Parts: sequence; structure tokens; C-alpha cells
Amino acid sequence: MAESMLGMKRTHRCTEVSVSDIGSTVTVMGWVQRSRNKGSLIFVDLRDRSGILQLIFEEGKTPAAVFEKAVKLRSEYVIAVTGRVAKRAGAVNPNLRTGDIEILADELRILSESETPPFPIEENSRTRDDIRLKYRYLDLRRPDLQKNIFMRSRVCQIVRSFLTDEGFIEIETPMLTKSTPEGARDYLVPSRVHPGSFYALPQSPQLFKQLLMVSGYDRYFQLARCFRDEDLRADRQPEFTQIDMELSFVDVDDVIDVNERLLKRLFKEILDVDVQIPIQRMCWQEAMERYGSDKPDTRFGMELQDVTDIVKDCGFGVFTGAIEKGGSVRGINAKGQGGMPRKKIDKLGEFVKDYGAKGLPYIALHEDGTCKCSFAKFMTDEELKALIAAMKGEPGDLLLFAADRDKTVFASLGALRLELGKQMGLIDKNKFNFLWVTEFPLLEWSDEENRYMAMHHPFTMPMEEDYPNIDTDPGHVRAKAYDIVLNGTEIGGGSVRIHQDDIQEKMFEVLGFTKERAYRQFGFLLDAFRYGVPPHAGLAYGLDRLVMIMAGADTIRDVIAFPKVKDASCLLTSAPAPVEEDQLEELGIEVRPQEGEPAETAKE
Ligand code: AMO
Ligand code: AMP
Repeated sequence: MAESMLGMKRTHRCTEVSVSDIGSTVTVMGWVQRSRNKGSLIFVDLRDRSGILQLIFEEGKTPAAVFEKAVKLRSEYVIAVTGRVAKRAGAVNPNLRTGDIEILADELRILSESETPPFPIEENSRTRDDIRLKYRYLDLRRPDLQKNIFMRSRVCQIVRSFLTDEGFIEIETPMLTKSTPEGARDYLVPSRVHPGSFYALPQSPQLFKQLLMVSGYDRYFQLARCFRDEDLRADRQPEFTQIDMELSFVDVDDVIDVNERLLKRLFKEILDVDVQIPIQRMCWQEAMERYGSDKPDTRFGMELQDVTDIVKDCGFGVFTGAIEKGGSVRGINAKGQGGMPRKKIDKLGEFVKDYGAKGLPYIALHEDGTCKCSFAKFMTDEELKALIAAMKGEPGDLLLFAADRDKTVFASLGALRLELGKQMGLIDKNKFNFLWVTEFPLLEWSDEENRYMAMHHPFTMPMEEDYPNIDTDPGHVRAKAYDIVLNGTEIGGGSVRIHQDDIQEKMFEVLGFTKERAYRQFGFLLDAFRYGVPPHAGLAYGLDRLVMIMAGADTIRDVIAFPKVKDASCLLTSAPAPVEEDQLEELGIEVRPQEGEPAETAKE
């Protein structure tokens, strides 16, 4: 039976009670972590968000009625206790902040009882993810999740304070809006008042923050919820939060400068880590050539080597064929892996197939000076020697190659490098390696759409020196876009925006937008630009990704209070769910049955 807390007032959180309180009376409230009944002595570990405190009920000393009640305590009961703080009589617990004290209870109220929880509330839970997510409110009681959620709150607080001090204004932008140009699918919300019309949830506040620059706010920021209907991964959720900002009268260096100072402050205050600024910058081309990735993990080497020139006349058709088609041949040297069993190498061959490679030619250099080369029959000894030398191959090394168009070579070797880095234990988990990746291509050719697409979004400014070539060589025009990468994760990205209408028009033309379509989609922004638009630029971080790395978590789910699972559903609330028939009717919506299933509506 639940009792009231009337007349009792909490004086301390569990770990706020300390040695200096010995002898005084305190009132604490929280959850029973566990209760141990030793006959005449009952030990209770009381837990609240601050930590754990030991309570003692002793037959003869504790009032009899209170002792009797204490016998009933079970895990996760919510209780209030008043008692005297004493030095711990038994062994001091060095693992607890309150390990050298205990509370001799005088009063106990059971504020609420608890059923046996489906899993123990403890650090490093081994319980299956789906069970933890169904009972997320219990999962969130666990100290490791609480630590992440508290860290996230502090990150937000520091971001707000830093950006406010830097003259940024916090402004909210709408959730019910029009499609924004970030390239994922939109989540749509049907309008009741305008049947057949839909709002889109924002993929980012991009267009609104540009409008705010037109309105003269000069420096804007927002901790903005964003919605993207895309395939989920460990670092992607359908709804997530950006630290979003935009600045007027600035260029690339200004945005980078303020953000480097923000990162420095965050890492110092939260982790006591000194971020060296300026942070290293690397242009996109170099990142691709050295790491096969536009978000390189620079915590280890194993860089890609371009061996196109070395093998261009060799006898191996896979190599020469790729080169003839305009592609390249590149390799990585997995140091000390020359003895890798054939089966394991074959597995790596399967691994790279996911990235488009059709095979994984290799040379295993044995310690005894011999070697095993999967394409030896096509190569002369001289050609092989030259290739090994170009790869700086030494006895004991494993050389792995990709030959294809650059895009596929980079994707497969970039992924292989990361996989091997993990397998070989080359990644130092205590390092925080930041990197700005700059000078992204403005456009990216899409085979599916058979046209150029904006690599970032259509409002990104081309680099001045490349812009004159936009008609003749659009694929090589670089953009004033930048990503901030931390340990191989893109934690943020942004760009200088186009503020000249002739450049914007050209951009739409290159992207294959008709004037009408550009107007239909972004007309309000283009109109606004006719009334005085300052040069502006901005950036947005993925807050979840940033906190994930700071907290040392493996997935952004561990830093989001109520995350969704892979199929974008919420196991706690069972969203998304069918709705009532009359709700649909009101919206003018008819649900077409999916193949093989009757149309589903909510059941009473
Ligand atoms: P972008 O699309 O690069 O840029 O997004 C910015 C950052 O948001 C994070 N992010 C995500 N995090 C979790 N789940 C997702 N599904 C997800 N998608 C993106 C990433 C990314 O770097 N408007 C521009 C910014 C600008 O130009 O100012 C934008 O949204 O960490
Ligand atoms: P094979 O001649 O089929 O024995 O192949 C020799 C080596 O080249 C093997 O290691 C294959 O994985 C690799 N290989 C074969 N075809 C391709 C291809 N199209 N692209 C890349 N590697 C290939």
C-alpha cells in the first residue's frame, strides 16, 4: 500500500549526505536498489539519480513498527526515510561515494511498491535491447544511461551559454512546414483544414535560418529537432537534434573559428580534454585519396596508396581494365597480417563486395621472403616487385587492392581500412581526433537520376575560383562546404550559402530544376532574397552524435531518452500505429491495403 510523504521533506539526495553530516538527522527519498535481511539487521541500498546510500534498520534500535515495515522492502520500492547519519559500522565501501557512512533509520514510508522489474537496474546491463527499450523508463534508471543523459543536458547548457556570449540569438523555427532540401525522405503530416495537403516535418531548419539572416538577426542558433525518413544505423535516428547555427557577413574561416572555440570549451568542461586549435583541415580530395572516406578516422594510419601508374601496363586485366575505363588501382598495406588465413582473406573479399568491389586481389608477404599473390599468374616478377615496393610491403605484410572507378575504390578500401583497423586493434579509444574536411565537390553525379545532385544542398556556394567552369566541368567545381569529423564520424557540416541570384539560378539550372519547380519548392526563399540578403554561412552539428562520442557510447540510442529502433518504431509506445477510421475520414485519407493485408485501423 502506498503511503503519503506528507510531513516529510527531502533534505538531501543520496550522495549529498557526507561524513560532515555525521550525527545529524536527514531525510532521503528514492528507490530500493536492494535490501538484505540479516535477521536483526536490514541493510537497504537507496538509489536516486545522484547515486547510492546505505540505510540500516536494526531490531531493538529502530522503532518496532518501522523495522516491521522494512522487512517488506523489495527492489524498486519507492521509499522515504528519516534517520541519523553515522560512520559506517561495517566495512567501508570504497566504490561508493557514500561508502564510509550509513543512515540509522527512525522513520520509513513506502511511497510506492514495485513489481519485480523485468531486468535488474544495474550498470552495464546484459539485458536484450528490445526488452530494455520496451521498458525504457526502467532502463533510464540505470546509472550509465543517466550519466549519458546528464552529459547531454550539460552539453546543451554549455552550447547555449557559449553561443549566447558570442552574440547568437536562440530562435525556434516551425515543425509543421514545407519540405526542406536535405535529401532524405520527408515525414508528412496531413492537414485536416486543407484536405489532400500535407505539412512536412523539417529535415533541418535550413531555409528558416537563411530567412532569419535576411531578417537581420545576424547570428542565430537553435537546438533543433530534425526529421528524416531514411534507413537507420547506429548513428542515425529518424528524429534527432541539431545544434544549428547561421551567421551573417562571414566566410568559411569565421564559421570555423567560432566552432573550434565552442568544441574546445565543450571538451574541456565536460571531459577535461584539451582540443588543440586550430583543428587540422583537409580538403575532400585528399581525404578520399588518403583514407577513402570523406570522414576519415585519423586515429590510425594504413592509408591508401595509388598504384595506378605502377600497374597500368601489367598483365592483370582486372587492373588494366579498370584503368582503361578511367578508374584507378589502389591498395592498403595491413602491416603484419601476411599470415592471415586464406579463409579470413576471403571474408574480407566478401566484406568489400558490399561496397561495390568485385573482388579483393591480394599479396600476402610471408616472413620467409616468399609470397602468395592471388593474381600472380598475370604478373611478371618485375611487375610484382615494383608493386610491392610501391606499397612499401615488407615480409609479414598483407597488401590488398581495389581496381574500379574511383568511387568504388574509395568506398571499398575506405571501409576495409576501418574494418582492419578495428580487427587489428589499431584504434585508440582514448583519442579525440578532430578534422575539418573542406572543399567538397559542389555536385555529385547520380546514376539513378541521371543528373547532377547537390552534394550538400542547392544553396551551397561554389568556390569562386571554380565557378567559371560550372558549365564546362560541373563535376569538378568545389563548394565552400565543410564537415567537422571526430574519430571518423561526421558530427557536423555546413557551408557558405549562395546570396547572389545569378549564381542561385545557375545552380538550379545545373541541377536540372526548371524555374517553376525551383519556385514551387523554394519560392519563398528566392522571393526573400530579392529584398536585401547579407552574405551568410552556417553549420549544424548532430547533437546526438557529438554526445555519443563524448560519452563513449556505441550508438546514438544510448544518448537519446526515448529512441526508435531500426524499423523506425518506438517499442515503448508502439508508434507508429493505425488510427481511428473517423480520424482518417476527417483528414480525407483512405488507407490503401498493403499487398496481402487488409487495411488496418485502430481497434477500440
Ligand atoms: P546535414 O544534413 O549534414 O546538414 O546535417 C548536420 C548534422 O546532423 C547530423 N545528422 C544526423 N544525426 C542523427 N540522425 C540522423 N538521421 C542525422 N542526419 C544528420 C550529422 C550531420 O553532420 N542544414 C544543414 C547544415 C548547414 O548547412 O548549416 C544540414 O542539415 O551529424
Ligand atoms: P581470378 O583470376 O578470378 O582468380 O582473380 C584473381 C584475383 O583478382 C582474386 O583475388 C580476385 O578476388 C580478384 N578479382 C577478380 N576479378 C576482379 C574484379 N573484377 N575486380 C577486382 N578484383 C577482382
